[in-house]
Amino acid sequence: MATKQQVTCSSFPDVPRGMDLLVHPALNKATAFTEEERSNRGLHGLLPPHVENIEEQVVRAYEAYKRKDDDLERHIYLRALQDTNEVLFYRLLLDHIEEMTPMVYTPVVAQACQQFSHIYRRPRGLFISYPLRDSMSKLLRNRPNAYVDIIVVTDGERILGIGDQGAGGLGIPIGKLSLYTLIGGIRPERTLPIVLDVGTNNAERLNDPEYIGWRHERISGQEYFDFIDQFVQAVKEELPGACLQWEDFATPHARPILQRYRDQLLTFNDDIQGTSAVALGAIFSAVKVTGRSLKDQRIVMFGAGSAGIGVADGLREAMKGEGVSEQDSRRHFWMVDKDGLLHSGRKDLTPEQIVYAQPESRLSGWLPTANGRIGLADVIGKIEATILIGLSTVGGAFAETIVREMARKVQRPIIFPLSNPTVNSEATADDLIHWTDARALVATGSPFAPVSFGERNISVAQCNNVFIFPAIGLGVVASGARRITDNMMLAAARALAANSPVLKDSSAPLLPPLTDTRRVAAQIAVAIGMQAQKDGVAPWLSEDELGQKVLAAQWTPSYSLITP
Ligand code: NAI
Repeated sequence: MATKQQVTCSSFPDVPRGMDLLVHPALNKATAFTEEERSNRGLHGLLPPHVENIEEQVVRAYEAYKRKDDDLERHIYLRALQDTNEVLFYRLLLDHIEEMTPMVYTPVVAQACQQFSHIYRRPRGLFISYPLRDSMSKLLRNRPNAYVDIIVVTDGERILGIGDQGAGGLGIPIGKLSLYTLIGGIRPERTLPIVLDVGTNNAERLNDPEYIGWRHERISGQEYFDFIDQFVQAVKEELPGACLQWEDFATPHARPILQRYRDQLLTFNDDIQGTSAVALGAIFSAVKVTGRSLKDQRIVMFGAGSAGIGVADGLREAMKGEGVSEQDSRRHFWMVDKDGLLHSGRKDLTPEQIVYAQPESRLSGWLPTANGRIGLADVIGKIEATILIGLSTVGGAFAETIVREMARKVQRPIIFPLSNPTVNSEATADDLIHWTDARALVATGSPFAPVSFGERNISVAQCNNVFIFPAIGLGVVASGARRITDNMMLAAARALAANSPVLKDSSAPLLPPLTDTRRVAAQIAVAIGMQAQKDGVAPWLSEDELGQKVLAAQWTPSYSLITP
């Protein structure tokens, strides 16, 4: 097997000299170039004489980071380091993963996207602007590195909770790919962030004299879908083996794009599939703690939009895997949206929602409330709910009476207020722990500080996609998968659940700490690869062989020796 050093050099066959080497972000070692490298590469005099190791460099970089006095400045500092010395950037991040992950990705990346045109420094990734649509393949050929494992692409329309950011949305693929490398170990030079610059309807961006994107309202309708199609065909031609991850597309575009292309290339949508997988992972681990199987659960979903339906669909697939029939699987769900419980008497349901409509025969004796709808409190009052999941955007909707009523009937209620941002959370972690005397198994969408309860300090898991997408990248790279199936996402959720700290300590969080994500990602990657084989979309390998391939594929930030 090739050593890491040889691999790195073969990624860059023409290692430059002098200043060209010092400004090459992937090869620059700055003060860590050895005497020999300095002699061979014409670096003497360009660097201070003391040769440092990476640990010493990390100390200095961390000091500089600490001097920044706001989060955006910290983000800018880290991005600048990434653009000048990638190995040091990743090593610094790895050493301070809990502190710095929020600076390169959510939540601070939201500000970075809003300010993208103002904080722009150096090129990274590709801008594919609508006026250049007929040169799409040429643009892709201009990519900085020939070999690409993972592409993250956005059209900037639905960036986190801050809406349309136009070309500034590129900040998201850049941040996300940093985590593919940091956690999944995808080689940094084999990642490619892309923004499809199809205009923006954000008046603030359009009126900003410094806006760097195509100053035009968004293209839409058939023109939009034709452009997406041109892009996908160009990716298939230029980078046929790369994994294409769709990121932060508006809901009316996200699902049709995924449905259209998921059988044509190696592709997935993290907002739809990754989100569902991480929530399922947390639910599976909570269910294990209760000692009852998934098919014994009665699940109340508050919010029946794209996220709610996505999580419910995943749970139903998992139930079917436990031998529950399609028809019976539906009976486990009680879905409530802004017009109340979904039932067969309602005429306003979409085809995806009709699946979850309770037959009216099951509701005999249920009286609708004054406004004619059956609300969350009515459902919790009538049934013995074991799981309550909020994906409604309604802050505080899990009121004390509702939570206490649920906890009165079940020993360990599973309660997940998953809406973001924090003000939209259906309940706070603190309230849920106190209202249930710490019996509730809680995971949240937004981060909450540990809850102090009696003598204990209870940490609550945050359902963060970071547990899933880097592992998917690693899994498909190592296994050689050609497609990403629903079963692979389910396998990822199960492997995440198998690594839950709560399995060893019933008061521990439902999901692992960030400091453990690299190890967990490797295990999830193996599960994904094995499932890909079962689904016939990856070549056969034994589990041991796949495990070794996963470990070999997981890049760690350390300097390579540059040979003459
Ligand atoms: P959506 O707009 O598609 O769906 C919202 C749903 O909530 C709809 O069914 C709507 O009828 C329902 N709703 C609104 N007001 C309500 C009320 N007063 N009572 C009952 N139901 C009500 O939105 P989407 O994309 O499904 O996202 C929902 C929330 O989930 C957002 O806050 C989003 O940030 C969050 N989310 C969290 C994730 C996580 O991993 N933590 C992942 C994805 C979404």
